[in-house]
Amino acid sequence: METIWYRTEELRKRLAQTLQQEALEFTQTHHRKPCLAVVLVGDNPASHVYVASKTKACLDAGLDVLDFKLPATASFQEISSTVETLNKNKVVDGILVQSPLPKGIDEKEIFKKISPEKDVDGFHPVNIGALVMNPKKTIAEGLVPCTPAGILEILKDINFSLNGKNVVVVGRSNIVGRPISIMLSALDATVTVCHSKTNNLAHHTSQADLLVLACGIPNFINDTHIKTGAIVIDVGVNRLENKKIVGDGDSNKLKGKAQLLTAVPGGVGPMTITMLIQNTIRAAKQREQGK
Ligand code: GUN
Repeated sequence: METIWYRTEELRKRLAQTLQQEALEFTQTHHRKPCLAVVLVGDNPASHVYVASKTKACLDAGLDVLDFKLPATASFQEISSTVETLNKNKVVDGILVQSPLPKGIDEKEIFKKISPEKDVDGFHPVNIGALVMNPKKTIAEGLVPCTPAGILEILKDINFSLNGKNVVVVGRSNIVGRPISIMLSALDATVTVCHSKTNNLAHHTSQADLLVLACGIPNFINDTHIKTGAIVIDVGVNRLENKKIVGDGDSNKLKGKAQLLTAVPGGVGPMTITMLIQNTIRAAKQREQGK
């Protein structure tokens, strides 16, 4: 089977144009730009790269970005009080605390400190609760985690109808696996959640019309795991010792058996930033409406 190697560049450009227009209309109406505050703690090189690209994309879209850098030695109290100051700051619409935080800091407790109205990552228990209790409405207008939201945009772009389909999600993280499994089941797919400890993984994955790979293990899934014609959305961004970036799927083995495989890099990863812009504009509009 000829496998489509799907890059998201065109989709991102299209979405970015719409978001740029929305940001402009917001700015004209409210005489200020939607504003994102980014908190980066420590010196994780990958996090610095991610934050730099998030900042650039937001500025390109016509948003304001405030960068806050704290040293790796920052205490829970210091990070928490940075967040609380941003919660009170009237010009800040969205707050993003880049994960992972340095060892010893309970990241979930920091995410809980972010005001739910400014939680553009969608990690706050209030927003996760809204997603679980009212998934369709929350997907359409709420603050949902950015990577899963990006996956839904890809599925729309390739016209994949979820109704009644078998979907297998490999991975159960709070950032991707768990929220995307809730979203896909709410959109009428039959969802199985597997992970690194699943017995006889291929038994489950070979049933999938759509596979979402989000376990963070390089080249974990190959042609023995999938049925011919499956769609594979690979969220993995794994750096090998030779510096090469690979997904959770072994693309060389999946090519020829999958119908479509998302590119790594250049696939799901950069969609996260597009959806962060969308969430920041949503948060800004909702804050203005609530005034
Ligand atoms: N680290 C990796 N992905 C993400 C994300 O979506 N949001 C935040 N805050 N940190 C991350």
